[in-house]
Amino acid sequence: MAARRHTSVLVYRPTDADVFAARVRAPRGRVTLHTAATADEAKAVIGEIDVVWAWKFPTLLYANAARLAWLETMGAGVDWALAPELPARVTVTRAAGVFGPWMAEYTLGWCLFVTQRMAFYRDAQRAREWRGDVMPDRLSGTTMVIVGLGEIGRTIAGAARRLGLRVVGVSRSGRRTPGVSRVYRPSHLHRALAEGDFVVLVTPLTAETRGLIGERELAAMKSSAWLVNIGRGPLVDEAALVNALGARRIGGAVLDVFAVEPLPPVHPLWTFDNVVVTPHIAGPDVPEELAAAFNANLARYIAGRPLRHVVDRRRGY
Ligand code: GLV
Repeated sequence: MAARRHTSVLVYRPTDADVFAARVRAPRGRVTLHTAATADEAKAVIGEIDVVWAWKFPTLLYANAARLAWLETMGAGVDWALAPELPARVTVTRAAGVFGPWMAEYTLGWCLFVTQRMAFYRDAQRAREWRGDVMPDRLSGTTMVIVGLGEIGRTIAGAARRLGLRVVGVSRSGRRTPGVSRVYRPSHLHRALAEGDFVVLVTPLTAETRGLIGERELAAMKSSAWLVNIGRGPLVDEAALVNALGARRIGGAVLDVFAVEPLPPVHPLWTFDNVVVTPHIAGPDVPEELAAAFNANLARYIAGRPLRHVVDRRRGY
């Protein structure tokens, strides 16, 4: 493809679009940058935009995006971007190589929160109680089941192995993966779940994975196992999860993502002592990190070279 002489880029985020726009790097005069924080602001310019770099871009505006050729998401998950109205000519890419190390630390940090009984000792401290009768557990030697062995899942697997965990995976292909003792296909999900002391969900949200973890899957887990959801809320049937937690059918849950975000104040998931709620921060949006990924692709786009980390729109990731 020929090099492009001029490109109009829209940086869209509901907050702090300017901070991200300030990190865009392109040869002088080759790019015009626009920023928008609301659908109205985006609507005013979208008709003249070639490239959108965005988090949660209002997909209703695809209808007005007459020139749009490329959309890069400021995130690993592209579920929100893949609306049917997105014209077929638009290439979608996702931020790659950014979130794995963060999400590995998040996952192992919260696994250690469980095994080191951090909540218990902090409560005891608040009550000025010396509870030497309660011991922590070893994380090493436990089994982590990772559902989704993409780049992020594999990074978590590597970090877990280095801490001495045994790692079992579930992936669409079932292909052997370095550092993962056993990889199951989705048709054997229940067998995989039964092995886990920790079950980590890091698979994309697609038509196939929506509601992946429901009553039967929770029943397949060990009664001591913890569920860690860092993928997308709708991977889990939240009503079934609330029931399983209430009945102590699983050990607990660490949840970073929810069907509705922010999690509504009345939601029962706030109330359990064996649930950790974090506000979708397992893979934080660090402007320098996301911009490095975008700028590398922007240089390719301007040079007319193929983009990297292109999403297969039919597959949904
Ligand atoms: C965040 O949820 C992401 O998709 O990266």
